[in-house]
Amino acid sequence: MFDSDMSMKDATAPGAAGATGLPPTQLLARNIDRIQGTHLLLLGVPNDPAVVPLFRSQSGVLLSFDYSAHLLQARQVRDSGAGLTPVFTADYPPPAPRHDVVVAYLQKGKEANDCLLALAGSVVSPGGRVFLVGENSAGIKPYAAKLEERIGPVEFADAARHCVLYEARATETRAAVRLEEWEKRFHVAAGIGGIDVVTLPGVFSHGRLDEGTALLLRHLPTDIQGAVLDFGCGSGVIGATIQSLHPDCQVSLVDSNAFALVAAQRTFGANGLTPHAIRPVDGIDGVGDQKFDLIVSNPPFHQGIGTDYTVVSRFLESCVQHLTDDGVLLMVANRFLPYERMIPKAMPVSLVTEDAKFKVLKGRINRSGRARR
Ligand SMILES: C[S@@+](CC[C@H](N)C(=O)[O-])C[C@H]1O[C@@H](n2cnc3c(N)ncnc32)[C@H](O)[C@@H]1O
Repeated sequence: MFDSDMSMKDATAPGAAGATGLPPTQLLARNIDRIQGTHLLLLGVPNDPAVVPLFRSQSGVLLSFDYSAHLLQARQVRDSGAGLTPVFTADYPPPAPRHDVVVAYLQKGKEANDCLLALAGSVVSPGGRVFLVGENSAGIKPYAAKLEERIGPVEFADAARHCVLYEARATETRAAVRLEEWEKRFHVAAGIGGIDVVTLPGVFSHGRLDEGTALLLRHLPTDIQGAVLDFGCGSGVIGATIQSLHPDCQVSLVDSNAFALVAAQRTFGANGLTPHAIRPVDGIDGVGDQKFDLIVSNPPFHQGIGTDYTVVSRFLESCVQHLTDDGVLLMVANRFLPYERMIPKAMPVSLVTEDAKFKVLKGRINRSGRARR
């Protein structure tokens, strides 16, 4: 096993949630008197337990792109009777009537934020207000100009806790966001004739193949069969490559990011492939009792901007339970990540290959005692 402190997120790191929530929510809390609407939208809400208590007396929609945030907030809404409807989606059409107040949380990455502001602009009513909140370290300041462009006149509202809050007033009704306009596509040579990969803003390695994933794809086993799980599928590039090379496999893909799930669906569609399942999970436990012949992954080791081993440590611990008797785990990781030490002893692990930055690891439990591939 591994040092227990590695699974903990550093509570003093920027963005860590304290007793009163994440810093952006704390800034919203001290401005709550001006953030009152009759049909509120909380947009791109992070995994922060302080959000539902802060807005519980208002009615509207609480939209998260992160399934772990969504599960937490759906539970809090149910338990507290808050007037908010929790929604997990990347595709939110303008409701009728549109929202009079939108509170958007800054996301990670320029394109994800451009898309966030376009979405905010498309669902707010003319004369309605859009608040944008985020941390200085996440680069909120340049977004004042973008807010003006996408929504209308912007006012600086407040700054504290290393965060800024802007308020913009919507000048017009804007058309619905069409996600296909935000897609980027690229071709990957692996697979029968290669595959086309569709990505969206906010999806890992948007618009290009990650170098670690490329190394993994070059070292896929040739004899894959049965049930395959692509854990943390992102754009679906690994699962779609396997499905294209081994059409008889049942490939399931899971991720916690709403844009990733749409992208994975579109990657399969773009190549005329049909997945066994594509669905949201918060960690490997979300797959339930299902067992797989192969679990393949480029697993996450970040939450926000900091390194966080919570998801990957649970993934490595639980993999054994989700593999068939002769099942194989194949994963790629940055070379500095100590995954060999985190994989339970019940699953001997070997190095398949490595380059200057990445390593591909293979774990196999071999409960069947059959000869090893
Ligand atoms: C390093 S990326 C790999 C993406 C894709 N497989 C590739 O190789 O391009 C890790 C993925 O794990 C997903 N992820 C993060 N936390 C997760 C969680 N709790 N449960 C499931 N997936 C998660 C991220 O959204 C991201 O798509």
